[in-house]
Amino acid sequence: MIITRNIKKQSQWSQKERSKGLKIGLVPTMGFLHEGHVSLIGKAKEHADKVVISIFVNPTQFSPNEDYNEYPRDEEHDLKLLKEEKVDAIFIPDAKEMYPDDYETYVTVEKLSKEYCGRSRPTFFRGVSTVVLKLLNIILPNIAVFGEKDYQQYIIIKRMCEDLNLPIEIIPSPIKREADGLAISSRNRYLTFDERKEATVLYESMRKAKDLVQRGVEDVRSIKKEMVKLIESKKYPRIDYIEFVDPVNLKRVSTIKGPTRVLEAVWIGKARLIDNIEVRIKESINS
Ligand code: PAJ
Repeated sequence: MIITRNIKKQSQWSQKERSKGLKIGLVPTMGFLHEGHVSLIGKAKEHADKVVISIFVNPTQFSPNEDYNEYPRDEEHDLKLLKEEKVDAIFIPDAKEMYPDDYETYVTVEKLSKEYCGRSRPTFFRGVSTVVLKLLNIILPNIAVFGEKDYQQYIIIKRMCEDLNLPIEIIPSPIKREADGLAISSRNRYLTFDERKEATVLYESMRKAKDLVQRGVEDVRSIKKEMVKLIESKKYPRIDYIEFVDPVNLKRVSTIKGPTRVLEAVWIGKARLIDNIEVRIKESINS
């Protein structure tokens, strides 16, 4: 396993592996690794010969009033875990290596970045797409794995790769959850004991949507109403958005016809938590 903080060295390593005909898989992360990240490594191993993890808390995706400095970091724990997971390379640059003083180029996936999470975080996806494009150019993977936990992020990265003709396959990996259904996230640590107990309402509301759709309810407004009622019955959660969208282009739908993704963001105390689920109408036996 190699650990490098240097862009040139990482690129040289990748070029060498590719020249042997080996397929490289990348898992980009911001560190403070948990089971969700580990499941992405498993997915990358299924699709590639060599797996590279990047650990970089990307300053350009945090707005000035967000938690860049507070964002949890634990390099020692991350490196130990990655050794156990037997990844092949860890790329862990510092901010100056990625963004020198004269840095000024950004890439934006225009429309998709403005909706949903982009509304309350207007510069977030610009930072994400920029850093991911840089990581792809440095690490030169054949495939890169993104968690469905951040569904809009996954779709935006896929769009960027298609639009810019990058010869890289973007592979989604399912959401890893705690035993009570809460999606695992570094931000869960911001929750107090009581807030954590109520945080399960995100998944409960997703399940509610799924059950209603399976029982034949197709009208998005009525499903949303039930979800809002459930969330508002709790003390702490404040809804940011609940949206029903096409799983490929993220366009809003008002009636459930084909497979649909429910996207949700909820504030609980200091933490803004997100979750999503696929819902689909039960296919009738005759159809
Ligand atoms: P980070 O939040 O560290 O997440 C890294 C990857 O892990 C993302 O693809 C995310 O969707 C995935 N992930 C996180 N929690 C997950 C869970 N519970 N189940 C499945 N996958 C999960 O997302 C980022 O970092 C950054 O925006 C990044 C893409 C690295 C760009 O800076």
